[in-house]
Amino acid sequence: MKKDLLSFTDWSAKDLSALLQLAITIKNNPADYRQALAGKSIVALFEKPSLRTRVSFDIGINKLGGHLVYLDSQSNKLAGREDVKDMGNNLACWADAIVARVFAHSTLEELASAAKVPVINALCDMYHPCQAMADYLTLTERFGDLNKVKLAYIGDGNNVTHSLMIVGVTLGCEVVVITPPGYEVDPAIVTLAQQKAEQNGGKLVISHDVEAANGAHALYTDTWISMGDDTPLDTIKQAFGKYKIDEAMMQSTGAQYVMHCQPAHRDLEISGTLIDSEQSILMQQAENRMHAQNAILVHLIGGAA
Ligand code: CP
Ligand code: NVA
Repeated sequence: MKKDLLSFTDWSAKDLSALLQLAITIKNNPADYRQALAGKSIVALFEKPSLRTRVSFDIGINKLGGHLVYLDSQSNKLAGREDVKDMGNNLACWADAIVARVFAHSTLEELASAAKVPVINALCDMYHPCQAMADYLTLTERFGDLNKVKLAYIGDGNNVTHSLMIVGVTLGCEVVVITPPGYEVDPAIVTLAQQKAEQNGGKLVISHDVEAANGAHALYTDTWISMGDDTPLDTIKQAFGKYKIDEAMMQSTGAQYVMHCQPAHRDLEISGTLIDSEQSILMQQAENRMHAQNAILVHLIGGAA
């Protein structure tokens, strides 16, 4: 039976760890994987803009001997010209997998139920699983054992936050989520992540207080205005002012590293000088997008063409 990657909410710690290990193996032994996707074609459908996801999938697939077809749907919702169901069914006639960046998670579910090939979430309103996998690969490279890592996310409670929570606590991390009042994460994701933390030795802390980040090994932020959000910048600045990650916050929390999924907005959610500092591991995260996604692809569709 085909397997999709829509959220990681249904993945065990064992399976997530194995995927992380596969990403490390592929990253360290690229020659062994040059033909891993030989003869395989992947369609990428994007309803929203992208730099990192689009390019890292395309180049990553090329490095594994596969082929990517990019469909730009940015100016048209997938359902604009024909039903998502029919689109998924058609694409599965030719493609071995579908990578999709969409507005609504339900669009991914529709695609996945229609297409007889795996569907991979390249970001939706609720999750960004490929990003989270790359981020925990980065933290593994920096710290080794994730069970000893405290990651503090500070900023808007969004798709990236949800995936960091789910994947992090499943892998045994302590994940602290600090948002301004009114910008919290989805309560259903909190409940799920709390259950996963209890099952897997992770820990989840939800707060409005920046001091909850004290003792974190790494601070993480994301844009304060996600794609499709039209809240005026002035409103956002008022709500988020004290949640900006800068050198002073790094010092007061004692954090070693700063992370951001990017695109970053210099001197808004993160100080520009911090992005350029030795404490920044943003580019390692960006590089690891490719290795994490390659592991996902090899896991889902690798093998004989
Ligand atoms: N982090 C991330 O997904 O970047 P893009 O939006 O550029 O793909
Ligand atoms: N939360 C951001 C992530 C961008 C990679 C967004 O959805 O726009």
